[in-house]
Amino acid sequence: MPHPEFLPIQWKSTHLELLDQRILPGKKEFLKLTTAEETISAIREMAVRGAPAIAITGVFGLTLGAKLQSGAANPKEIETLLSSVLESRPTAVNLSFAIREAKKLVQGVSDWKEITKIWETYGLKMMEEDLAANKALGANGVSLFSKDQSEFHIITHCNTGALATAGHGTALGVIRSLRDAGKKVVVYADETRPFLQGSRLTAFEMMEEGIECYIITDGMSGWLMNHRKIDAVLVGCDRVAANGDTANKIGTYNLGIVAKEHGVPFYVCATKDSFDLNLKTGVEIPIEMRKESEVTQFDFLKSENGNYLFPEGKTSPVGARALNPSFDVTKAHLIKNFITEFGCFTPEEISLRLKSV
Ligand code: MRU
Repeated sequence: MPHPEFLPIQWKSTHLELLDQRILPGKKEFLKLTTAEETISAIREMAVRGAPAIAITGVFGLTLGAKLQSGAANPKEIETLLSSVLESRPTAVNLSFAIREAKKLVQGVSDWKEITKIWETYGLKMMEEDLAANKALGANGVSLFSKDQSEFHIITHCNTGALATAGHGTALGVIRSLRDAGKKVVVYADETRPFLQGSRLTAFEMMEEGIECYIITDGMSGWLMNHRKIDAVLVGCDRVAANGDTANKIGTYNLGIVAKEHGVPFYVCATKDSFDLNLKTGVEIPIEMRKESEVTQFDFLKSENGNYLFPEGKTSPVGARALNPSFDVTKAHLIKNFITEFGCFTPEEISLRLKSV
């Protein structure tokens, strides 16, 4: 668990506090949000990020939206609020599931006060359930690693830890659980260009926990697999299609190919809300395109007085163009197993295993 000072999402009844992940690890500041609009913009601008954390925040965003209303709610107003939160980020399916559930919960309820209470309770329940799911997922993940081996070297991508969830984490949750099971774990954290979730957030979480961690740039994993024994790649996910194709942070697909080439097991850590069985394959997963400047300069790391934390911010010629797909899809055949709170299974077993949860 992160130190309480670093709990990323804190519901305070009157408002929502979010640890601003854009300026970590340089600064620890909380945003105090009182409206749905502020919450939507915090999600869009990635002050909070990670599929489960986005969904939980979205529900608290709804709660804040409802809280500012009074009297009778008409269905059109409710629908507008639900869709504005839903549209904040498109790839992670967790948010769509949460919004669908939030809508269902207030079917037939027409008092804003009552709606506020229902959504607040739902947000708090999501936090509890996510933490429990992460812990169960972590324990299931441990079972895939040899009992007879005392040290494991693991590559991970992006940030899937306590900062991306309600606590513990998914891929980082397995790493925490391995450590708790008495194993020595050495983590190689992909830097994760362009937003640097790996170097800024994963390395930060691992250091807080005292877990040995080396940052590598996204192109170094092939070298690493050639030069050191890597036991596994562990990644999180934003949406899994019915055939097992998996959307996760851009760069995950490359890592999957390199792992396959080197015979390193590639595990995707997912809670049940990551599986979108409505989509047959990964081709149907919507991929968020973000602004070019995240690639050409570090302007998202601006300090509060407007100065760049990096000199000038720019790392490319003025006027250079860039592409910035925020996610890619790793093909199912590259994935050895999904690690979930309800067990570990192959891509072929998804439909069967999801039926029973
Ligand atoms: O753009 P982000 O930082 O929200 O992307 C996060 C990821 O891709 C994570 O790997 C994924 O959401 C799983 S978090 C448990």
